[in-house]
Amino acid sequence: MGITFEKVTRTDLRTRPKFSKEDVQKTLDQVVRIVDHMMLRFHDDCFPCACSKNYRYESVGNLSWNSENFDSVWTTSFWTGILWLMYDYTGLDKYRLEAQKHSKLFRQRIDNYYHKNEEEAGLNHHDVGFLYLLSTVADYKRTGSEEALETSLKAAELLSKRYIEQAKIIQAWGDMQDEKQQGRMIIDCNLNIPLLYFASNFVKDVPYFDMAYNHVKNASRYIVRSDASTYHTYHFDIHTGKPKYGSTHQGFSDQSCWARGQAWGLMGFPISYKYVKDEELLNVTKCLANYFINRLPEDFICNWDLIFTEEDGQRDTSAAAIAAIGFSELLKYLPVADESRVLYENACLAIAKSLSEKYMGTNQEGILKSGVYFYNDHLGVDEYLIFGDYFFVELLMRLYKDWDSFW
Ligand code: GLY
Repeated sequence: MGITFEKVTRTDLRTRPKFSKEDVQKTLDQVVRIVDHMMLRFHDDCFPCACSKNYRYESVGNLSWNSENFDSVWTTSFWTGILWLMYDYTGLDKYRLEAQKHSKLFRQRIDNYYHKNEEEAGLNHHDVGFLYLLSTVADYKRTGSEEALETSLKAAELLSKRYIEQAKIIQAWGDMQDEKQQGRMIIDCNLNIPLLYFASNFVKDVPYFDMAYNHVKNASRYIVRSDASTYHTYHFDIHTGKPKYGSTHQGFSDQSCWARGQAWGLMGFPISYKYVKDEELLNVTKCLANYFINRLPEDFICNWDLIFTEEDGQRDTSAAAIAAIGFSELLKYLPVADESRVLYENACLAIAKSLSEKYMGTNQEGILKSGVYFYNDHLGVDEYLIFGDYFFVELLMRLYKDWDSFW
């Protein structure tokens, strides 16, 4: 089935937004000041929660999980990732040293899973990708730490246990025997599978690469609809492997397009392309990109679900930052002669400029305002989100220099 490639209708993306390297640097300097302030509260085993309350993050530990901090079960590494980005930007050891303390905590967390208390470790989900890519993989990539590598490979092994051979997908949530969650993949996993590509460089007797590639192909076939919007989640029969139906978890409705889901697709498909070099993934990304751009309000920052296109809707800045990174990743692989390059360059800059000028926090307690974690659950609506903060800083680093990715 072909996927619709909408023509982009916005004419203001034909001119390059005025957001210079100096502007990027100024914004990053502002981020440094905020992060330094946040570090006064968040250090050692003390991480910001997934989302703030009244624009102030509460703190959460990295090891003991219970129903009260469940929403942060997948998000602690974004703070670690911010520290690695600060190390990349400033070269200052204080950020590296703090992030490396986290590597030890992430190691304890995985040891806890394997040897002590599986449930308490809070690793029984596919987001071990996010957790370990931005902590121990980042550590290994920046310092060459053998211990960080070993921890990362243990995490990849854990992720691979969620692979369902019949359906060729990674199950997102729940115990593998949990009938309600069995056979459900979600678009967010596009950003977890780079852990498997990473591990495939070191481990040859487990088909990590094929697992990741099969999963992302199924995401492009079933999660992406023919109009180039995306389902948030898709269900498969685990016995026959047959695709069943799409549904949402965090979007407005099963048939609408959750903005962060579209953004996970936009960023994740070209990242998989980096490893598998399958041109289809670039074509899908372009279709998703045009669908996304055509539904942006005037200021280029998407509403939390793309069913809302109006100017005064509730923005989700985290989705905007993730999508802009998707444009920047796509641009690495599009041929120089591709006519749509200018459009994606301008879209990436326009989003970064708008986030920097209109949506940065002013109380030093977080970085990016107006995120939406889970609208229908009234969770983190118009708040800081620690992952929105992370992706905004990654976006800035990508615009600042030829940044060596953690993904
Ligand atoms: N991965 C969960 C979320 O995007 O909210």
